[in-house]
Amino acid sequence: MQITVVGQGYVGLPLAIAAAESGIKVFGVDLNEQLITNLLQGMTKVNDVSNTKIRQSISTGHYTPTSDIKVVSDSDIVLVCVPTPITDARTPDLSFLIQAVTSVARNLKKGSLVIIESTIEPGTCRGTLLPILVNESGLATNEFDFAYSPERIDPANQSWNIKNTSKLLAGLSLNGTKRAYDFYEKFVDSIKICSSVEIAETAKLLENSFRLINISFINEISIFCQKLGIDINEVISAAATKPYGFMPFYPSVGVGGHCIPVDPLYLANKSRKIGAPTRFIDLADQINQEMPGYFVGRSEEKIGGLKGKKVLVIGVSYKPNVADVRETPVDALILGLKNKGAQVSWHDDLVKEWNGEKSVALSNEYDLAILATPHDYLDLTKLGDVPILNTRGSI
Ligand SMILES: NC(=O)c1ccc[n+]([C@@H]2O[C@H](COP(=O)([O-])OP(=O)(O)OC[C@H]3O[C@@H](n4cnc5c(N)ncnc54)[C@H](O)[C@@H]3O)[C@@H](O)[C@H]2O)c1
Repeated sequence: MQITVVGQGYVGLPLAIAAAESGIKVFGVDLNEQLITNLLQGMTKVNDVSNTKIRQSISTGHYTPTSDIKVVSDSDIVLVCVPTPITDARTPDLSFLIQAVTSVARNLKKGSLVIIESTIEPGTCRGTLLPILVNESGLATNEFDFAYSPERIDPANQSWNIKNTSKLLAGLSLNGTKRAYDFYEKFVDSIKICSSVEIAETAKLLENSFRLINISFINEISIFCQKLGIDINEVISAAATKPYGFMPFYPSVGVGGHCIPVDPLYLANKSRKIGAPTRFIDLADQINQEMPGYFVGRSEEKIGGLKGKKVLVIGVSYKPNVADVRETPVDALILGLKNKGAQVSWHDDLVKEWNGEKSVALSNEYDLAILATPHDYLDLTKLGDVPILNTRGSI
């Protein structure tokens, strides 16, 4: 079996390497030529795949990174793992996906199976992508198979990975489902077959909307606890002793990354089209966007105004122990602090360079330090007596 994985980012690369390690010959395609050059040298920024694994998979001949989409024409299965972000108007941006599926279709051979892994709103596979595959390939719908299997990867999670996280799957035809199942079964422990692609599309959006709503709820409760003068984390751990009916979520400067703040907007977008409003999502999105401003206010209170003050923001990626800054709420935090006249520097040894600025060292030269994203490596004793505002739940 020979396959192509289109998009070699946080989702596509771990998938390509897992498939390669199971003995499948994998082409990893990406438009980003620098990324391909780095992969060919065994280098990646994706935490969940070690450079050693990439080099090994290349040297055994099981993994070939390339920017040439024509490898699709030699592939039995093509998986699409490209970004599905939001536009400036906060609506779904399918441009990467449509471009990728169009180029796949133009190289698709008869009898192959196309699997979409990118997150999309229900109806996208059947209503938007299938017509592109048919029109651009010149193949009839019964001359290739098509399935949807959303990725559930959680970057930097030490317990749950591509192998032991159950996978959702639905084909447009029984044959598509069966072929996709036989493929994933080689390197995924458990696969849940859904009765339609729309079920699988919606389930993925439900999972991430659940997280956005609950994290936003906890952030609102953390503001309540702070005003009350009690520790939100102690409240959460007390509530979490209940053995059923409660799941802990934790406070932060807001939700970030390519998934949790974005995917619910795909669901909300579909809800508007079909006239079934998802008000919880709208409110959670609003609370999430307000959190950086709340911490700007807390900073002002803590040191009596920000004008001319030297503020160090610690951790700028969207969550601890990753270098990913997509949709990071720390961006809005820094902007808010600057708008109040603060001189803002930031420290993050994982991100190093961001928005044209470089990470600075931890030191005692600041009027205030804000712990935004607590990476494990941080040694806050280097701050000396600098007051610290902890966005993760200090009073
Ligand atoms: N990052 C996560 O934690 C995560 C988790 C689950 C699901 N997802 C979903 O998976 C999808 C991919 O996300 P990601 O985080 O891997 O994105 P990413 O930005 O890390 O990687 C996507 C890659 O696709 C490449 N690309 C874009 N258009 C292309 C094209 N036409 N041809 C070839 N390559 C192309 C980009 O250069 C990029 O390297 C999204 O739909 C996302 O919602 C992401």
